[in-house]
Amino acid sequence: MKLLQGDCLEVMESIEDSSIDMILTDPPYSSGGLFSGDRRKKTTDKYTDKKYNGTSRFPDFSGDNMDQRAFMEFMRMVLAKARRKSKEAGICAVFVDWRNIASLIDALQTAGWIYRGIVVWDKGNSRAVPGRFRNDCEYIVWGTNGQKKTEYEKGCFVGKGCLQVASVPSKIKYHQTEKPVELLERLLGICPLEGTVMDCFMGSGSTGVACVNTGRDFIGIELSEWYFEIAQKRISGNISRII
Ligand SMILES: C[S@@+](CC[C@H](N)C(=O)[O-])C[C@H]1O[C@@H](n2cnc3c(N)ncnc32)[C@H](O)[C@@H]1O
Repeated sequence: MKLLQGDCLEVMESIEDSSIDMILTDPPYSSGGLFSGDRRKKTTDKYTDKKYNGTSRFPDFSGDNMDQRAFMEFMRMVLAKARRKSKEAGICAVFVDWRNIASLIDALQTAGWIYRGIVVWDKGNSRAVPGRFRNDCEYIVWGTNGQKKTEYEKGCFVGKGCLQVASVPSKIKYHQTEKPVELLERLLGICPLEGTVMDCFMGSGSTGVACVNTGRDFIGIELSEWYFEIAQKRISGNISRII
């Protein structure tokens, strides 16, 4: 278990090459609306519910105001560096929403990963817009570092391509855009038992908690000191939910 605070593009340099079984990460989506003005808002205004005291509970986080070209280039740089840390045939799985999914698929491939597909996360809730489809899903774009062995042994993991897991209720969140531990545990099914997982944007450490729960080793990187401290406490089991 290794938790590192700083910019993942710099911090990843300290991690041994070809040592990671799975990159499972949730970058800033640079999203949050239909127009460029929406994208430029503070993350507090985009992602927190004032009803649950969102404005004062969480600090804003950075990296969430890029346009599509910048997002694609930033993710290409991160995923290229992450691939150097991946074992051969290692897995890369990255969260994204509907707005930047095309840029992320481009970034994954230009970083050298073999694009394998998309897992759908059905969150089961979203804002209703009359006369429109709901955006009640987010996505996990995934690929492998070269060819993955596909011999099926009896009892081996076969993951579902659509996962229904409720999002974390606003009033008990540790992070503005926290992902449910149960969802991360289900995604980790594809990673060898006792494998090493890296999250370059660990936020409040949900991926780390899922690794502890499922017996995987974890390397987590987070830029914000505030969220880094929360992640340390969560992963060491040293905190209870803020209500
Ligand atoms: C979408 S959030 C991750 C939330 C996390 N999945 C959770 O459940 O708490 C993205 C995180 O990436 C961090 N971040 C942004 N730019 C970064 C960078 N260059 N290096 C490392 N972390 C970064 C932000 O501070 C933010 O906490």
